[in-house]
Amino acid sequence: MVISKKIKAYDLVIFGTKGDLARKKLLPSLYRLEKLNKLYKDTRIIGIGRANWKNKEYKKIAKQSIYNYNNKILEKNIWKKFSSRLHFLNIDVNDINNFHKLKKLCNKKKRIIIHYFAMPPSIFGIICKGLGKFNLNSNKNRIIIEKPIGTSLKTSKKINNTIGKYFLEKQIFRIDHYLGKETILNLIALKFSNSHFFTNWNKNTVDHIQITVSEEVGIEGRWSYFDKVGQMKDMIQNHLLQILSIIAMSPPDNLKANNIQLEKLKVLKSLSIINRDNINEFTVRGQYTSGLLKNLKVPGYINEIGSIKNRNTETFVAIKVNIKNSQWNNVPFYLRTGKRMPIKKSEIVIFFKPNYLNLFKKNNENKLLNKMVINLQPNEGIDIYINNKVPGLDSNFKLKQIKFKFSYQKEFKNLYLYDAYERLLLESSLGNQSLFVSKKEIEASWKWVDSIIKSWKKKKSKVEFYKAGTWGPESSNYLLKKDGRSWNKI
Ligand SMILES: NC(=O)c1ccc[n+]([C@@H]2O[C@H](COP(=O)([O-])OP(=O)(O)OC[C@H]3O[C@@H](n4cnc5c(N)ncnc54)[C@H](OP(=O)(O)O)[C@@H]3O)[C@@H](O)[C@H]2O)c1
Repeated sequence: MVISKKIKAYDLVIFGTKGDLARKKLLPSLYRLEKLNKLYKDTRIIGIGRANWKNKEYKKIAKQSIYNYNNKILEKNIWKKFSSRLHFLNIDVNDINNFHKLKKLCNKKKRIIIHYFAMPPSIFGIICKGLGKFNLNSNKNRIIIEKPIGTSLKTSKKINNTIGKYFLEKQIFRIDHYLGKETILNLIALKFSNSHFFTNWNKNTVDHIQITVSEEVGIEGRWSYFDKVGQMKDMIQNHLLQILSIIAMSPPDNLKANNIQLEKLKVLKSLSIINRDNINEFTVRGQYTSGLLKNLKVPGYINEIGSIKNRNTETFVAIKVNIKNSQWNNVPFYLRTGKRMPIKKSEIVIFFKPNYLNLFKKNNENKLLNKMVINLQPNEGIDIYINNKVPGLDSNFKLKQIKFKFSYQKEFKNLYLYDAYERLLLESSLGNQSLFVSKKEIEASWKWVDSIIKSWKKKKSKVEFYKAGTWGPESSNYLLKKDGRSWNKI
């Protein structure tokens, strides 16, 4: 990714620069972009927060954050260059008159301004109002907003509509950081540039697809946030549905943002509806109890520090969903995500149908299903499992499944692998929306998720418990077992 000379320098304003996201992800990513020489020479980074800090104090905090979240590495010369970009403004956004400070600073340079809202969505509206009042929302400027965009279709529409009063859709960059991952982008290349995949990526050849996003962490002190949303809204509505829409989408007319977003949207709109009639058949909700994780005893969800007892919030979800279109009809997609799982892992597994000839069945029970495992994290890459004859004189064709392995780290060891936030910050500076989520996609996802949540409520669904350090409640295994399948062994 080369920075085009045509693109002007920009200023990046980080609303909420004292917060978790800014300290752990944004500032360290920007520092690494500096090191890679990917920041425009004149770009300034303007942190907004509620603190009586001068620039010097902001720089001190930023330096510490970068050091802590950049593997304890901070190079003197890079830091010197990077820190010269940093400015701090003490603004409580609830008083929009305070935005004159930002206006004054930005007026000095007539540049594109990218506003990153690293603040709770409940105050996105007031930020927009402040930006609008001081004309900081002009057409050339952009905003980047983070998930969760709302907690339902209704609230997401409200946020989108409020923002829409001040910014056009082409100015709004909605982040789902999974879209910045190299392996997710490679899915598009894998599907549409390889004819043997392209022609076989459909109901004729694919038996079913599994998507797993497991976390080792528990609630991590995010009690006030997570307990209100649960795993369904926190993970399925955004990350898993985005992954699903990319795997299942048809080829876009070209790689322009609106065409990619349109194909993903078609998938989201074709998801089979899960409602009161089939909720128990297609979904599983779980909550972790105390258990052993990597030989360490960890508390259960309701025993975590700051917890409220007797909560029915799900920390695990498994879902079976179909896509009602001619490409995928009758191919189940199984989604699973949970906290306090044995390991942190994100993978997509495509299981291909058994060879209908079945010539080798006699000596090879259960071994003939080909599969492709796409490792999203860690160890990004692809493993393809192919059946081969075991060498020997016997004519019974004993088969062995062999793994063909592609590892990003090994294959491209001389190339820098951008992390998701680095890539997304770069793409937003270039004005490229193809790795961002459109308003319509967000709303289609919420519509589908709302139906599930409403049905759980109507059915008074109770979470099933699973021990921390396991792969979720037994019903999750049963979800596949009743279809004669099982989760990919991780
Ligand atoms: N943390 C992550 O890794 C992560 C990942 C994905 C999405 N997100 C999303 O990113 C956004 C920020 O998350 P976060 O974890 O960074 O939250 P956070 O740690 O609570 O930080 C939010 C920041 O906003 C500031 N703030 C709140 N109200 C303000 C106001 N009226 N005026 C000025 N500043 C105000 C807070 O300032 P004070 O310090 O003064 O209170 C705080 O520094 C949220 O939408 C979240 O859902 C976060």
